[in-house]
Amino acid sequence: MTQGFSRAPGVEGPLAEVVEAGRRRVWRWAAVIAVGGFLFGYDTGVVSGALLFFKHDFRLTGFQQGSVVSVLLLGAMAGALATGRIADRLGRRRTLGIEGVVFLVGTAIVVSSQDYAMILVGRLVLGLAVGGASAIVPVYLSEISPPSIRGRILTLNQLLITVGILIAYGVNLAFSASGDWRGMFAIGAIPALVLAGGALWLPESPAWQLAHGQADRARALICSVSGEARADELIERYRARTRAEGEAGARGQGRPILLTPRVRAAMIVGLSLAVLQQFGGINTIIYYAPTIIEETGLTASNAILYAVAIGAINFIMTIVAIRLVDRVGRRPLLLISLAGMLVTLVLLGLSFVIGLGAGLSLLFMVLYIAAFAVGLGPVFWALIGEIFPGPARADGSSASTAVNWASNFTVSLVFLPVVDAIGQGETFWILALICAVGLAFVARYVPETRDREFEQVDAELQARFGRRAKPTGTTVGVS
Ligand code: BGC
Repeated sequence: MTQGFSRAPGVEGPLAEVVEAGRRRVWRWAAVIAVGGFLFGYDTGVVSGALLFFKHDFRLTGFQQGSVVSVLLLGAMAGALATGRIADRLGRRRTLGIEGVVFLVGTAIVVSSQDYAMILVGRLVLGLAVGGASAIVPVYLSEISPPSIRGRILTLNQLLITVGILIAYGVNLAFSASGDWRGMFAIGAIPALVLAGGALWLPESPAWQLAHGQADRARALICSVSGEARADELIERYRARTRAEGEAGARGQGRPILLTPRVRAAMIVGLSLAVLQQFGGINTIIYYAPTIIEETGLTASNAILYAVAIGAINFIMTIVAIRLVDRVGRRPLLLISLAGMLVTLVLLGLSFVIGLGAGLSLLFMVLYIAAFAVGLGPVFWALIGEIFPGPARADGSSASTAVNWASNFTVSLVFLPVVDAIGQGETFWILALICAVGLAFVARYVPETRDREFEQVDAELQARFGRRAKPTGTTVGVS
């Protein structure tokens, strides 16, 4: 049961004040943590514009150009994999701060690059930071949020990813007249500084503090958000659960925790959604929109402008998702999103195969982005912060995030060759088929997490996989 936050704002009395003040505090922390999401968006988005200029400076071949873009995805995979361990050992706050510093180092290398090798190394370092941040941000956000607003807080991450992409496109446009690609990358140092500096001010996650024998600190933090009664209740519940876990021998028993039967269902859901989020084809549009739009017969400069429009729709529909995610829940958003992507991909394919014209192709592309942004985009990142039990949360998020980057890399690599081999429209139909399989998977296996404590999420997860739930882990949020 959720008691910490009243869902009826305006309730009078001292508790309501704690609730309101606590809620504002959580939003302020979340805004800083989610700068990690902004950098994810910015550093993946900025390269498309910068590439047009540094490829001439360094006389890059086609392969070299592709490698500067995609080496970031490989770095991100490694960064995501490493982060779970680091975040469990050092804490969420320090890990995020370190990632801010790595962002700065990567940016400095790229901005001062004198040749292909150096820019490649810089992008690899940036990738480590992007991947690390993308794995830890959902965990950190989840652990500082009360269940009643957790969906919105987690969706903030995706919102800032889309803002990062949009600002990157804007910066590309602004700097394109001068061709100053170093300037384009250098802007990324500002949010990186905010992240590194912000980590000095942020509180540590109470779930991590509890797991590391710092119950007093965790209690003080939960009190500042939800009041004393709720803090006592949560800490008591945590202790009871840890005792039960000890008696049942529910931890890893010598095995890595992600391989234990208790975590299996969450792993299947996390990894499958990671694959689905990328194989649904989102980045074929986000990364290649100008190329695809040119195919429809529009000029290149118009194509860049339409790419900005696609970025804007992505951002606007993510705001819609924020408004809906705690009201209608994660499952309905995912199902509507996948159904929308399926239909628009079929139509997009059709528009190329039978030649419906540039206008309609563009319309279907925009509707496809809207469908992704309202569900599969934000909800994947929210769920990986919510479905894993406390002891496996950082590792589980790391593994899911790494698989997401690996899938992103694969799709980005094979998309254009597949288009060359079988055609644009037919390729979109393959993506549609993947969305259909995804729809069936979500309907059957993905649990609802809206306004639920971890135990309830776990019980539904186990039931969907035909197992009975046993007590394990810490609560998802602080309230
Ligand atoms: C995906 C990214 C994608 C972005 C677009 C994220 O949720 O993980 O790969 O580029 O959404 O908004």
